[in-house]
Amino acid sequence: MVDRFLRSLPFDRRLWREDVAGSRAYARALSAAGVLSPAETAAIDAGLEGIAAALEGGAPLAQEGEDVHMTIEGLLTERIGPLGGKLHTGRSRNDQVATDLRLYVRQAGAQVLEALDRLSGALRARAAEHIGTVMPGYTHTQRAQPVLLAHHLLAYFEMLRRDRGRLEDALERTEVMPLGAGALAGSGFPIDRQQLARELAFNAASANSLDAVSDRDFVLELLAALSIVMIHLSRLAGEIVLWTSAEFGFAELPDSLASGSSMMPNKKNACAAELVRAKSGRVTGALVAMLMVLKGLPLAYNRDLQEDKEGLFDAVDTTLDSLAVAGILVQGLEFKVERMRAAAIEGNTLATEAADYLVRKGLPFRDAHRAVGSAVSYATGAGRPLEGLTLDELRRFSPLFEADVFEHLTLEQALRARAVYGGTAPARVEEALADAEA
Ligand code: ARG
Repeated sequence: MVDRFLRSLPFDRRLWREDVAGSRAYARALSAAGVLSPAETAAIDAGLEGIAAALEGGAPLAQEGEDVHMTIEGLLTERIGPLGGKLHTGRSRNDQVATDLRLYVRQAGAQVLEALDRLSGALRARAAEHIGTVMPGYTHTQRAQPVLLAHHLLAYFEMLRRDRGRLEDALERTEVMPLGAGALAGSGFPIDRQQLARELAFNAASANSLDAVSDRDFVLELLAALSIVMIHLSRLAGEIVLWTSAEFGFAELPDSLASGSSMMPNKKNACAAELVRAKSGRVTGALVAMLMVLKGLPLAYNRDLQEDKEGLFDAVDTTLDSLAVAGILVQGLEFKVERMRAAAIEGNTLATEAADYLVRKGLPFRDAHRAVGSAVSYATGAGRPLEGLTLDELRRFSPLFEADVFEHLTLEQALRARAVYGGTAPARVEEALADAEA
C-alpha cells in the first residue's frame, strides 16, 4: 500500500523524453569532467538513444518501478550492463526531476502559445467578417450602447494577447537549468554546468543548488498563466451560452456543435461551451493545490514536491483542449445579425447619443442626462423607441432638440461618434483589426 502511495511512475512516465534528453547531455558532461571515458560515454549514449527509439516506436514502459528516472536507468542497465550505473554519478533525482520538469514546461508552454495563436486567429477572422454588424454592448447585463460585433470579438483577442505575454514571461524564467545541483549542495564532480545548460538549450545554470532542487515557481507561473487563460475562455464560453439562448438569440450553433437532451426534444444545448466554462475550475484548482504544496515547505527537496506533476499535466491538457474547442465554437457560431441590430434598437441604446447632442447644444451633461432619461421613460410608456418620438414630443423634455437630432439618433451615427482610440467607431475597429493581423 505504502509503495503504491509513494510511486510516481503512473504519472511521471510521460516525462521519459525529457529524462532521456537530460541524461544524454549529463553523460557528455560527465565525460568532459573525466568521469566517463569516451568509449563509456558512447555506450551510454547509444543505450539511451536505443531506449528512446524503442519507446518512440511504441514499446511499453514497465508498469512496476518507483518513478520514470529509476525505470529508465533500469532499462539502460539492461541494455549495457553495470556501466549504466555510472550515469547517476554526482547526480540526484532531485536535480534530475527539476530539470525534466522544466524541459516539460518548455514544450508544454510552446504548445499553449500555438493554441492561443489559433484561437486568436479564429476571433480575428470572425471580427473581420462582422466589421459591419451592430449589437448592443452591455453593462450590468443590461443593454447599454451600440457596439460592433467585431469590437466585442476583438476584446477577447486582447485578452489572449495578454495571455501570450504572461506565458512568454513565465517561460523565460523556466529556462534555468538545475542539473549539477546534486541532491542539494552541488555535485561533487567537476561538471561544467554552463556548458551543460547550453547543451540542453537553457539560458543559464541555476545560481544556488538549494534553490535549484526546491524551486517550483516555474510550475506556479505556468499554472497561473493557464488559469488566467481559462478564466478568459470561461467568459467567452459563458457568452456563447447566453447568446445562443432563445432569450438572447444572437447566435446559433450548428447541430454538430450542440447537444440534444435525452428527455426534452426541444433542447439544443451549448454543452461544449458549458464544459469550457466549467473546466476553468480545475486548472485554477491545480494552481491553488501547488501553492499549498509549497507553502511553509523547508529547504531543500522534500517528497511533497512529487505532487507538482499531476495537476500540472492535467492543467496543460485541459487548457490545450479548451483552447481548441473554443476555437471550433468561435468558427462555428452563426451570428444572427438582424436580431442583434433589433436588440440594440429595443434597448434604447441611443440614449447617450441624445444626451451628447444636447451637450453639443450647450446643456450641461447632468441636465442632458435627466432630460433624455425622462424622454426614454415617456417613449417606453408609449411603446416606442426614443428615436421614434416626434420632434414636438422630444421638445417637451428640452427645447434644444431640433430637427437635426434625428440624424444623430441612428445606430451608425452613434458608432461613428465613438471615434477615440480604442473605441467602437468602424474606422477605429478597422485599425484594431489591422493591428491584430500584424
Ligand atoms: N519521483 C520523485 C519526484 O517526482 C523524484 C525525486 C525523488 N527524490 C528522492 N530523493 N526521493 O519528485
